[in-house]
Amino acid sequence: MDKILVIHGPNLNLLGNREVNIYGKESLDDINNKLKKSAQRLKVQLEFVQSNHEGEIVDLVGNAKKDFKAIIINPAAYTHTSIAIRDAIAACGVPTVEVHISNIYGREDFRKTSLTAPACAGQVSGFGINSYLLGLEAAVGLIRK
Ligand code: DQA
Repeated sequence: MDKILVIHGPNLNLLGNREVNIYGKESLDDINNKLKKSAQRLKVQLEFVQSNHEGEIVDLVGNAKKDFKAIIINPAAYTHTSIAIRDAIAACGVPTVEVHISNIYGREDFRKTSLTAPACAGQVSGFGINSYLLGLEAAVGLIRK
């Protein structure tokens, strides 16, 4: 079965308690469980990682080709700062979908630029945790196109 790597970036381990007016009440486990259910229906296998460390995310992306057919990534704050993660996505040879819970274009100016999205196949932003489920559909579409 095709495998997809789901990478959750910094502070997403705090979901459920963190700025619930923006990010909602669901925890990272809730999101991963919903993704697992969709993955069963779509007949793909998911592996989940959460990291608060830029270099670790660079390593995960850079090594993904061995085992994974696609990546779904929420780079969180690194979206707006990390040339290193952008370059890893561009280099890795694995189609990548960027997702955001909030609409990064409707918030502070510093969130309106994504350094990572141009290296991705596309981006889903602003649909709450559905952004992840839509991102999964998009990733499966990229694998099967
Ligand atoms: C986020 C948006 C980012 O700007 C922010 O730094 C996050 C979460 C989102 O999913 O909406 O940590 O990526």
